[in-house]
Amino acid sequence: MGKLIVGNLKANILSSQEREIYISSFKKILAQKKMKDLKIVLCPPFVHLEYFAKNIKSQSVKIGAQNAFWEGSGSFTGEITPAMIKGVHGEFVIVGHSERRRYFHETDEIANAKMRLIFKSGLRPIYCIGESREERNNGETKQVITRQIQEGLKGLSPVNLEKIIFAYEPVWAVGTDVVPSSNDILEVKILIKKIIVEMYGIKEVEKIIILYGGSVKAKTVKQVCLDPKMHGVLVGRESLNPSEFLKIAEIISFNNHE
Ligand code: PGA
Repeated sequence: MGKLIVGNLKANILSSQEREIYISSFKKILAQKKMKDLKIVLCPPFVHLEYFAKNIKSQSVKIGAQNAFWEGSGSFTGEITPAMIKGVHGEFVIVGHSERRRYFHETDEIANAKMRLIFKSGLRPIYCIGESREERNNGETKQVITRQIQEGLKGLSPVNLEKIIFAYEPVWAVGTDVVPSSNDILEVKILIKKIIVEMYGIKEVEKIIILYGGSVKAKTVKQVCLDPKMHGVLVGRESLNPSEFLKIAEIISFNNHE
């Protein structure tokens, strides 16, 4: 399969002017790049979703949201539902991001409720999982990842499984300058696959997509994507700079030796 790069723009792009500058620079640089078999998913803040979908969405660039509510509609002041995201041409939703787990106390149960509704609404979740520094030091990585997957995927069918984009994002790497070794990443990737085999069987595991996320930069991407079977990356801060982001995209698009 081809590679995938997701850009999580987080709570940035503060005005329509900034948005215009971002989009025009992104399109200009993208037009100069030669990339093969690569899909880009850009996740802007909700207020820019529709504009991004209208102005940047293409065959190779898709649009996603950074979050979604777990109920379909109704009296939930301030919430944005998957149907609304779909209504403005978003196709993906990030679920379980460590910043949401940490600052908004989102649990695996909440992630599960969100994923169920995201599927019902015809969207695809990008499910973030990963252990904190403390959990890692305590030797709890396996336990944490297992819980996040078992609870987060509760009740989801093999058909759903194929559509989930897993993002292994060690919390100790997100928002820092620390990058895990390719061995660290490979170990967790194998762990994720083992958990999926236990839950869904050996046949299903070949179809799953696993990205790496956390401190990805053009300088570090080779280290985190050394394994040519790595499906791609989720990029936070560097996605705010179209030139750097598309440099990363270019590197991973050519790291496909399957
Ligand atoms: P970062 O963020 O690339 O800024 O570390 C990654 C993420 O939030 O997924």
